[in-house]
Amino acid sequence: MDFADVVQTRRSVRAYRTDPVPDAALGRVLEAARLAPSACNKQPWHLYVVRVEATRLALFPHERHTWAAEAPVVLVACSLPDDAWVRAWDAKNHADVDLAIFTEHLVLAATAEGLGSCWICAFDPAVVRAALQLPAAHVPVAMTPLGYPVATPDPRPRKALEEIVTWR
Ligand SMILES: Cc1cc2nc3c(=O)[nH]c(=O)nc-3n(C[C@H](O)[C@H](O)[C@H](O)COP(=O)(O)O)c2cc1C
Repeated sequence: MDFADVVQTRRSVRAYRTDPVPDAALGRVLEAARLAPSACNKQPWHLYVVRVEATRLALFPHERHTWAAEAPVVLVACSLPDDAWVRAWDAKNHADVDLAIFTEHLVLAATAEGLGSCWICAFDPAVVRAALQLPAAHVPVAMTPLGYPVATPDPRPRKALEEIVTWR
């Protein structure tokens, strides 16, 4: 799948088949995240690959996201703010920026493998911390289920280019 197809076909998938994710495909997805850029190349991230069903269920106790635990794999992307680049003149910590790039690399690589994914940020960090026994320095920022979609969701609307781009 070329890059244009990847960005055109990616969807937030909210229904998964139980078929396992092949190790080779999962490996390529993880490698894509490893290669993500980060401010000053600090790589302030850590990824938890959750395959144990009981742990997946513990990550999503709220009925809003029960479908996410049904995917065979859940990826939990954590930032390490203490390791991230901090802009000296206004003290902006770039951990969240780096984590977003890292997670989107995962998501786009998953699409290229024919796998579904869905960014999930509407979670209680305390619940995720408890489920994964996270060290204090690991801050859960985003999660995504990973698995084969039951169906391809319709595309969601986007603003027109003219609305979001200013040429000067
Ligand atoms: C930072 C971020 C957080 C999101 N959090 C959630 C979430 O908690 N639950 C959910 O179902 N979808 C979540 N989404 C998915 C968005 O709802 C989805 O990307 C948007 O509606 C556009 O649809 P599409 O991804 O299919 O193009 C999130 C997306 C992003 C980028």
